[in-house]
Amino acid sequence: MSVVLKGRSLLTLLDYTEEEIRFLLDFAKKLKEENRRGELHQRFAGKTLALLFEKRSTRTRCAFETAFGEEGGHPVFLSTQDIQLGAKESLEDTARVLGRMFSAIQYRGFKQSTAETLAEYSGVPVYNGLTDSFHPTQALADIMTLEESFGSPRGKTLCFVGDGRNNVARSLTVICSKLGINFTIITPGALSPDPALLEICKPLAAASGALLRVTGDLAAVKGAEAIYTDVWASMGEEDKKEERRRLLSPYQVNQALMDRTGRKDSIFLHCLPAIKGEEVSADVIDGERSRAWDEAENRKHTIKALMLATLGGETGPCDSQRLLL
Ligand code: CP
Ligand code: NVA
Repeated sequence: MSVVLKGRSLLTLLDYTEEEIRFLLDFAKKLKEENRRGELHQRFAGKTLALLFEKRSTRTRCAFETAFGEEGGHPVFLSTQDIQLGAKESLEDTARVLGRMFSAIQYRGFKQSTAETLAEYSGVPVYNGLTDSFHPTQALADIMTLEESFGSPRGKTLCFVGDGRNNVARSLTVICSKLGINFTIITPGALSPDPALLEICKPLAAASGALLRVTGDLAAVKGAEAIYTDVWASMGEEDKKEERRRLLSPYQVNQALMDRTGRKDSIFLHCLPAIKGEEVSADVIDGERSRAWDEAENRKHTIKALMLATLGGETGPCDSQRLLL
C-alpha cells in the first residue's frame, strides 16, 4: 500500500496507519541528516502557515516557525489575544477565513473539538500542536528519539511514569500501539488512563504485537529501554498542583528508578518543559542517560517531515526522494 499524505491533517494519530507513521519517521531522519550537512532549501516558498496558540509554547512554536520559515514559507503567529477564535464570530467562520488565506493551520489549545472544527471548515491541513487530549507531533519526536538509541522500536519497552491520563501519555499510547512498541503506564489509580482510549488502542496493539500495561507498581520499569515522564499538572490544571504533588511524589523519576530498569543503556525521555525536583530529579534530566534535548530538537525534524508530506510535492503517493528535492 502506498502512503498518501498530501492534504491531510494530523489531529490524533489514530487515523494514521503504521506505514504512514513510519514514512514520517524515516523522512524526519533524512531531514535531520540534510540539516547536519547544512543544506538549504526553499520547499515552502509561496506557502503560509497560521500558528494559533491558546496556550504557551516554546518548542512547538519554535519548531513549526523555524521549520517553515527557513524553507521560504511565511508563518504567522496568532495568539488568542489577537484573533477571534470563537469570540465574536463562530469558530467555523474563523476556520473558513483562515482556509482562504493559509496553506495550513497549527492549533494549540484546550479542546480537541476546536482542532477538529478547524480541520472541517478550513479545508486545509490542520496540525494539532497540543490539546487537552492529544499531543501527536510530540509522539513522533519521542519515537524518533527512541530509535536513535535502539534502532527499530518494535518490541522495545517504553514506560511512562506520571499522570496517566494526560495528553502526552495518551498520544504515546496511540503511537506505541500502532508501531508494536510495548507501552507501560505507571500511575496511581486516581490518574489511570481513560478506559475508552485503551479500548480503542487494544486491538491496534494486538495487531502490531505491542503489550499495553497500566500499573501503579514502579517495579514495572524493569527491563525497559526508556523511562518517560511529563509535568504532574498540565497547562490548564494549575489548580490541581497540590493534589498532584501528593499523588505523584512517590513517582519521581530519579537515579534509583532509572537503576530499577536493570539496564545500563536505558534512556530518559521528557517532552519538556520540566520541573526539576518534581517529576524528574535534576541529575537524571541533566545526566548522561537523558535524551530530552535530542527529543526537543527532533520536534523540528518530525514537524518539517509532516508539513512537507502534507503540503509539498504532487498529489499521490509520498516519495521521500521527490519531497526532498
Ligand atoms: N514539548 C512541548 O510541546 O513543548 P512546548 O510546550 O514548549 O511547545
Ligand atoms: N502535559 C503537558 C505537556 C506540555 C508539552 C501539558 O499539557 O502542559
